[in-house]
Amino acid sequence: MHHFAYKGGVLHAEDVSLDALASEVGTPFYCYSTATLERHYRVFAEAFADADALVCYSIKANSNIAVLRTLGALGSGMDVVSEGELRRAQTAGVPSERIVFSGVGKTREEMAFALKAGIYAFNVESEPELSALSEVATGLGATARVAVRVNPDIDPKTHRKISTGKAEDKFGVPYTRARELYAEAAALRGIQPCGIHMHIGSQITDLKPFGDAFALLKDLAEQLADDGISMEFVNFGGGLGVPYRGTNDVPPHPDEYARVVFDAAKDLGCKLLFEPGRMIAANAGILVSRVLYVKQGADKTFTVVDAAMNDLIRPTLYEAYHDIWPVAETLRESERTATDVVGPVCETGDYLALDRQLPSFSQGDLVAIMTAGAYGAVQSSTYNTRLLVPEVLVKGSDYEVVRPRPDYDDLIGREKIPNWL
Ligand code: LLP
Repeated sequence: MHHFAYKGGVLHAEDVSLDALASEVGTPFYCYSTATLERHYRVFAEAFADADALVCYSIKANSNIAVLRTLGALGSGMDVVSEGELRRAQTAGVPSERIVFSGVGKTREEMAFALKAGIYAFNVESEPELSALSEVATGLGATARVAVRVNPDIDPKTHRKISTGKAEDKFGVPYTRARELYAEAAALRGIQPCGIHMHIGSQITDLKPFGDAFALLKDLAEQLADDGISMEFVNFGGGLGVPYRGTNDVPPHPDEYARVVFDAAKDLGCKLLFEPGRMIAANAGILVSRVLYVKQGADKTFTVVDAAMNDLIRPTLYEAYHDIWPVAETLRESERTATDVVGPVCETGDYLALDRQLPSFSQGDLVAIMTAGAYGAVQSSTYNTRLLVPEVLVKGSDYEVVRPRPDYDDLIGREKIPNWL
């Protein structure tokens, strides 16, 4: 469910015409809907309303501070993976006691920064990281609250580049080593083991891998209790998938996911933490682009638009499918033909859709690349010396450019010609 719909023949974000917005801010641009963000956060949070739960939105999905402020105001915590993301959460006004810090490669500087900020917990991913954290915390006279991220070796049945819970993935501590590591952690200075963490992957649309993984979490929590190490919280990570193909692919509802969680967690007496990213942000954002040319190749038609792989890398990086809607509703009814939607970047892999049945677009038409609110703008780059795409947040009939398009001086001006040239 999202709040992008046709009104008076034109695609709108809530009550804002995307045609008007395109004239105002220029194309391409990302457009986010507040109502959709809020709705998705609430649907997820309400699935756990009867439990002691903290939803830590995974900032990496969409880290614009206006998005963070919107979610923080609803009570969301944040899952961060770098000092930069922690600073964003702080800038958005999210209290530190609602922030968890994940990632396999935290630097000592980042650990110190997070300890001084007083975050809720670190998700620790290895033994050497645990030792480093102990040293940094001891040096600061602080105590790091720690959850060990456990790798359960479970196939989440998603794209291989976004699976994180198989033995061959770089994440977490092998399940079989976890109990031992908790015993070590309990003896380390500056470390308070108080939680268990797991995150098995992203865009997961089958509940079975979650169920299998969560059963292991439960077993581990019970074993640790036997060892005299009681867990204050269990962090189930994120990963719940979203419908990229409209009504043709319907992932489990958060209520169904919650049933799987409660099956494992009901007797543990722990606080429940979650780190959803995509589920909250994906459908709340679109990328709006203009058709530059329609080009007839030898065997196919290329629709060349002004957005490219540097703006939305998901299609080429993960073979991801994003629906493409015309902004003008009349085009929606027109006859469809197969086309590749490609950008101006000089790479064959620069495409947003391949061999897609779409209305016959003409030069100047606007298109909306749907479900682009998560892992869209955050993964953009300036490849081909293209300007980063602006981000616009809509609320009802209001909108604000929450990240302006930079100018060429921003992009090139920081570089330097050495004095020997
Ligand atoms: N927690 C941890 C520790 C994570 O690594 C991630 C995502 C999440 C939570 C949030 O997962 P979500 O609920 O969003 O599935 N760029 C890729 C996705 C990478 C996901 C990385 N980790 C994509 O565009 O599909």
